[in-house]
Amino acid sequence: MRELIIHGGRPLRGELAVEGAKNAALPLFCATLLTDEPVVLENVPELRDVQTIIAMLELLGKRVERLGPGCYRVSASSVSSASPASGFEVPYELVRQMRASFLVLGPLLVRGGRTRARTRARVKVRVPLPGGCVLGARPVDLHLKGLEALGAELELSRGCVEGRAASLHGGEVHLDYPSVGATEQVLLAAALIPERTRIHNPAREPEVEDLAHLLGKMGARVRFGEVIEIEGARRLGGARHRIIPDRINAGTYLIAGAVTGGKVRVFCRPEHLRALIEVLRESGMELEEDKESVTVTSMGRPSPLEVETRPYPGFPTDLQPQLTALLTLARGESLIRETVFPSRFSHVPELLRLGARIDLADSSAIIKGVEQLEGATVQVPDIRAGAALVLAGLAARGTTVVQDEGHLARGYSDIVGDLRELGARIEEREYEHG
Ligand code: EPZ
Repeated sequence: MRELIIHGGRPLRGELAVEGAKNAALPLFCATLLTDEPVVLENVPELRDVQTIIAMLELLGKRVERLGPGCYRVSASSVSSASPASGFEVPYELVRQMRASFLVLGPLLVRGGRTRARTRARVKVRVPLPGGCVLGARPVDLHLKGLEALGAELELSRGCVEGRAASLHGGEVHLDYPSVGATEQVLLAAALIPERTRIHNPAREPEVEDLAHLLGKMGARVRFGEVIEIEGARRLGGARHRIIPDRINAGTYLIAGAVTGGKVRVFCRPEHLRALIEVLRESGMELEEDKESVTVTSMGRPSPLEVETRPYPGFPTDLQPQLTALLTLARGESLIRETVFPSRFSHVPELLRLGARIDLADSSAIIKGVEQLEGATVQVPDIRAGAALVLAGLAARGTTVVQDEGHLARGYSDIVGDLRELGARIEEREYEHG
């Protein structure tokens, strides 16, 4: 267990560069399964989830070398991952730990189908279904429907998806919801199908676009937009790719500047944070930007807001807990409606312990702003809820102890160091269960 001891009530001032985007790194590593040639990824965040996906790739026959800080080369090991003896079996333990591992399904199907199509033998791919997580039971039905539209034969048995890698074909994929994972799953498979595939109602998150950029460098032709159009290739080559900065971590630190009444500059991609910039400006903060950074200057307690989380370019669900923390101090009553993960309010009971006044009603939070939060001990339920509790602790009077079983480290490689750079008085200590 890790404890963050936060002495709150000090405005944060300073500037900070954020690491590479976790939610881009994970699908980008999965894309390396589509070729045996070396793929070099730069600006990879040093996070637990990245180590999990690397372990997955090594199990599937890949060689992963760390060339330096944040730089990895993925290549085929001596046992090429292209033609396994008995098909691909992905261990439940790794998928259980991290839902994004499910993205190996598309690449394994399309690799398996290609290599064995000639001999008519049909490689079997078995990938465990991802478990639920604190955000509610997150299904993968859109992933499966998308792959079936490309000719995949899938069935569910004993908690796994079992696929026969018959040769897949291009096609029209219609997503009922612009799911990030489902869009990435179809993109990964379509890139190695030498026909045209179009994805209708796709997710348009920057992390999905970053994946499209890497697939383009590897030899697929991808047109990203309202409809994503892919001309896959018979073979995909190696590439070098620098991962985009993490817009959620950047947004977290901008909100840290706002909630503590300070002034913070974050080096990031401002065009990826339009919705947050608008919302912070509407709450009375001063926002400036140049081509590589955004600066927030607090002008006092925020004005109350009414915000709804939406798929990109709408306000991101991954910043909803952090915005909630800010609005606990607003001059009036705010409303936040969570439309992406309706049950994503695990941070609320913990914020109440710090003196916030929040009511929950059918996937919305009604937040009555208070003058001041009071430090207390709180527990981290998941990555972004944990970030929200840290922000609230930075603003609260007195000391807040944030107890964390490793959730924060899944999304922030050094949140204590980052916040110290901005002048926060924060320590951390590890301790065994008392
Ligand atoms: C990605 O999750 C991110 N994770 C999440 O970030 C992020 O919150 C989410 O996108 C939304 O932006 C990664 O990229 C690794 P979805 P994903 O598929 O792909 C429903 C973090 O903290 N749905 O867009 O799982 C689903 O239940 C994480 O970094 C289906 O119904 O999100 C949810 O209600 C948290 N069927 C909605 O769509 C499906 O087949 C959005 O899910 C797939 C999804």
